[in-house]
Amino acid sequence: MRITTESKPIEQIATAALVVPVFEGAKETRFGAGDLADSGEITGKSGELTLLHHPAGMAAQRVLLAGAGRPDQFDSAAARKLAGLAVRFLKGKAVKEVCFATDPSQAEAVVEGAILANFDPDRYRTGNDKTSVEAITVVGSPEAADRGRLIAEAQNLTRELVNEPANRLSPRQLASAAMKVAAAHGLESEVLEKAQMEQLGMGALLGVAQGSAEPPCLIVIRYRPANPGSSGAHLGLVGKGVTFDTGGISIKPAEGMEKMKYDMAGGASMIGAMQAIAQLKPAISVTAFIPAVENMPGSRAQRPGDIVTTMSGKTVEVINTDAEGRLILADALTYARRQECTHLVDAATLTGAIVVALGHLNVGLFSNNDAMRDRVLAAARAEGDRMWPMPLEDDYKDYLKSAFADLANVGGRWGGAVTAAMFLKEFAEDTPWVHLDIAGTAWIDDEKPKSPLAKGPSGVPVRTLVRLAMDWGR
Ligand code: BES
Ligand code: MN
Ligand code: ZN
Repeated sequence: MRITTESKPIEQIATAALVVPVFEGAKETRFGAGDLADSGEITGKSGELTLLHHPAGMAAQRVLLAGAGRPDQFDSAAARKLAGLAVRFLKGKAVKEVCFATDPSQAEAVVEGAILANFDPDRYRTGNDKTSVEAITVVGSPEAADRGRLIAEAQNLTRELVNEPANRLSPRQLASAAMKVAAAHGLESEVLEKAQMEQLGMGALLGVAQGSAEPPCLIVIRYRPANPGSSGAHLGLVGKGVTFDTGGISIKPAEGMEKMKYDMAGGASMIGAMQAIAQLKPAISVTAFIPAVENMPGSRAQRPGDIVTTMSGKTVEVINTDAEGRLILADALTYARRQECTHLVDAATLTGAIVVALGHLNVGLFSNNDAMRDRVLAAARAEGDRMWPMPLEDDYKDYLKSAFADLANVGGRWGGAVTAAMFLKEFAEDTPWVHLDIAGTAWIDDEKPKSPLAKGPSGVPVRTLVRLAMDWGR
């Protein structure tokens, strides 16, 4: 998508479609729309779209009046959504060029909304009925537009990776994709192979991987600032990279299993975030760690009752082989700590229980450190990624008792998202850490008729992670 900025009066902007926000309570009388406002067809409610053709006095071929809601509530999230809805609507009408007459202060969010809305998860559908917007123009500074572009492109890269089916994205292929991104943006990357992980004693990660013919790996991507800030912080981003989760011997039911290709969404989020971080250059060090495995049943697969020794030295009784995410993350968190990360954030499609608790609207956020939790919540709020803090008291540890090892990998029927987080906490130890359970938010299933994003991968929480790194050094 080509992106340009514009400062002409809107009457003079020659474009295929000019998007004009209409606020609730402000009667729109321009473009001959007074009658429509009187009749109640145009109210300015968020999500409302009214397309006018060849409005008098305008150089634009079309004006799309886009409901913007209450003016006092028009924040960057609202601007992003408005731009997204407009692009998806106009794309459906084969419009290729769109100009946004929005406030210059919203240029970044508008560009993001437009680029995110242009993404469709249909690259393997052949045919020539696909449409997309090819060029957009916004009112605002080129710098803001450019920031919006690179952040949204990073989020779309994540969505592209998440959308790949498991036959086209093995752990190895995920590593190749990560190395390509790193090389293209001047980041250092490294892929730990099975033999190295054996040497490091990553028994939990290797136990999950042993049922698959696809070898596991641990992907590492490093960003180092040219001028480090005074905080001395080194942020570790740890993302679950299960390229397919059958459940293993504790196999999942067939219904809906195809969706388990998105079980690497946490890992893909870290790759997307690192791409944006490489370009935006925050003042702190950031390293991404992505344990990549395929969870399969088979004659070599780990069995319920197996006891594995993690890199930390703690032993784990594997009660359920479908609770594999926490096993691979345990070793990745330990490795990140040994790589001198001072702060950790992990993102993982970890539990169905978080979907029961929060539905598809909020990411479940768990932390062992209040300051760290607040930092991530502030970044999420600024980016319009919804996250909700969940409890993590030490008493929950009792649920993870094993008669035969230090820990069991499941905590019984109740509070499944919390006991999963509690398991991870054992491996974050005393490093300030936030765990994001994105099982309910990384994939959009219930596409509403008016959604700014297509059905499929959402790319949450890429923007939050990028902002977290950017705001740290300031
Ligand atoms: N990848 C799943 C969690 C998941 C479920 C993600 C639904 C997205 C949608 C995870 O590995 C898993 O299987 N978790 C189990 C844990 C249980 C065995 C304790 C679950 O949530 O059922
Ligand atoms: Mn599982
Ligand atoms: Zn899983």
